[in-house]
Amino acid sequence: MVNYKDLGLVNTREMFKRAVAGGYAIPAFNFNTMEQMQAIVQAAVETKSPVIMQVSKGARNYANATILRYMAEGAVAYAKELGCAHPEIVLHLDHGDSFELCKDCIDMGFSSVMYDGSSLPYEENIRISRQVVEYAHKFDVTVECELGVLAGVEDEVAAEESHYTKPEEVIDFATRTGCDSLAISIGTSHGAYKFKPEQCTRDPKTGKLVPPPLAFDVLHEIEEKLPGFPIVLHGSSSVPQDEVDTINKYGGNLPDAVGIPEEQLRLASKSAVCKINIDSDSRLAMTAAIRKYLAEHPDHFDPRQYLKPARENMKKMYIHKIVNVLGSDGKLAQ
Ligand code: G3H
Ligand code: 13P
Ligand code: ZN
Repeated sequence: MVNYKDLGLVNTREMFKRAVAGGYAIPAFNFNTMEQMQAIVQAAVETKSPVIMQVSKGARNYANATILRYMAEGAVAYAKELGCAHPEIVLHLDHGDSFELCKDCIDMGFSSVMYDGSSLPYEENIRISRQVVEYAHKFDVTVECELGVLAGVEDEVAAEESHYTKPEEVIDFATRTGCDSLAISIGTSHGAYKFKPEQCTRDPKTGKLVPPPLAFDVLHEIEEKLPGFPIVLHGSSSVPQDEVDTINKYGGNLPDAVGIPEEQLRLASKSAVCKINIDSDSRLAMTAAIRKYLAEHPDHFDPRQYLKPARENMKKMYIHKIVNVLGSDGKLAQ
């Protein structure tokens, strides 16, 4: 049993309180490689931002759970080495799909877990969410739960039909589970293809897809029911078209990839939304840089040569999100 406090990590409670009050959101970036971890820490240190580093079940399978936990411990030491005396880094389980998985992460030093029972019947979601919360709170680990189903793929759970979170359920759900934050469905979705072309309009100038707006009316109703309660948005990559164009220019094939416009995320950040999940944009930034580099240097084969620009490109993206979209720069407690 390892407690996250001994690793220099923090839970989400205080940072969410400050974010809701201050009208900004904390970035939650997924990671499963060393280069992502380095880029996240460099970006957080340079912008003086709290940050959530999150690990999915797929990431645990790819990289090994123990290695990722040590990487997060290393991230704290690395942030200090880069000059940040008091980094605020959360190690969070993304889309935990069972009590056992959440417990395993808590026992190995995670400071925050998500239990995602959004695809289960309502009462079953409450029952397991409550079980996770009871265990987590014994160790002061914070818990995110989810109500409402996002379109696309919820980790390994395919959501055939999305439905928005029902505002009339949130008080009962939050009270009975005791969760610390609530992920809601208001039109975001996972991956680089968030909307089908027929759900969008097309910009006549660029020919690019323009997605439908998020359901801010649902968000506002939820905020009214749970004043000041921390709300989380999953599936919030904006799928930058310059990265998509670079990928396609250098041999990729991502037709009609489309994300959530950043102005909408900027607006959401000013509300009770205090955690915004971004994974796909990091994948796109990495892939675009690697494709370009290899196309321009066909004789290179040292991974450090192409991973260096990939890391730089991810760092640039993380800084942009923190400063220009979420507004968490300069928000460390000390
Ligand atoms: O919400 C899902 C995250 O983007 C993680 O995706 O399961 O492919 O690691 P993954
Ligand atoms: P994106 O696929 O939009 O980056 O969403 C990531 C996410 O929600 C991780 O939980
Ligand atoms: Zn998610």
